[in-house]
Amino acid sequence: MKFPPWTSISEAARFLQAGEVVAIPTETVYGLAGNAFDPKALAKIFAAKERPTFDPLIVHIADIAQLTDIAKDIPDSAYRLAEAYWPGPMTIILPKKDCIPDLCTSALPSVAVRFPSHPIAQAIIKESGLPLAAPSANLFKHVSPTTAEHVAAQLADRIAGIVDGGPCSVGVESSIISLAGEKPTVLRPGAITPEMFAKVLGDVAIKESTSKPGQPMLAPGQCDTHYRPQVPLYYGEVPAGYTLPEHTVRIAFGTQPGPIPATVNLSVTGDMVEATSKLYAFMHDLDKSEYDLILVDPIPNVGVGMALNDRLKRASIKTLP
Ligand code: TXA
Ligand code: MG
Repeated sequence: MKFPPWTSISEAARFLQAGEVVAIPTETVYGLAGNAFDPKALAKIFAAKERPTFDPLIVHIADIAQLTDIAKDIPDSAYRLAEAYWPGPMTIILPKKDCIPDLCTSALPSVAVRFPSHPIAQAIIKESGLPLAAPSANLFKHVSPTTAEHVAAQLADRIAGIVDGGPCSVGVESSIISLAGEKPTVLRPGAITPEMFAKVLGDVAIKESTSKPGQPMLAPGQCDTHYRPQVPLYYGEVPAGYTLPEHTVRIAFGTQPGPIPATVNLSVTGDMVEATSKLYAFMHDLDKSEYDLILVDPIPNVGVGMALNDRLKRASIKTLP
């Protein structure tokens, strides 16, 4: 077999129809895709990622009309959100149809659905003729991949193929909103901000994540250690007088001063969208054994910055070494 197993759109579609799993690009992060209707394919996804089966998967579609193949009792609000933000970085939780296996939803009565905007993701979904379950294409608890090389480094020898679609334009996982409960609730912040949801739906609630080991995760990364690189990453103020380890690197944001010079900069101009598209790539790049500590500058907690703060707080060690 070629190694890494780089694959074309058509070859990927054939693998998926045959029950194999393939990494595909989306605008947010790379996904590890399998036939959402096939429990064996779903089992391969969990196995390749070493992901516990209590963490449910998102089902990807390439046409709003496909929603009714997967979800039932779809409220009008889902169609209003779909019109506004699909295709794009938004996942909607809806009551599930019986044809979606329990393994996909961790036995929850609801299913997560997303219509990605990436043309290659759409082409693969259409050509396979299947809704595709796809979590981020990384090992469980590792940083999500935003390039095909990130995927290859973690999963190359475990999956049938990787389709290279270049770097992901958004760079952080989709916003998740639940329409399966009493009130629309944002479960995971992302590029579609609470303000953008409120514009379409009126009032929305925001779920504070709390960890309940062993139970289906209603919001991702409820494990506090989700998204963590191997080199300790610290997101917080460094106390004056604290001596940093010798090989500390700094991910800067804008031109604010820091305890050491910037190693890389998320956005010199302080542009949040640019910063989002670069964060995971920097986390991957600096996750090398020659470094002792990764520091990250504070990022304003507004707009998509809320998603960055959410992921960085989970990635961060709680106290400096
Ligand atoms: O941007 C994204 O969403 C990427 C790309 C590949 O589409 N996917 C992604 O998947 O981030 P993943 O598996 O890493 O995160 C999906 C999260 C799960 O951790 C889970 O908590 C939540 O979605 N989820 C899935 N189904 C759910 C459900 N029925 N109810 C509540 N949360 C659900
Ligand atoms: Mg993930």
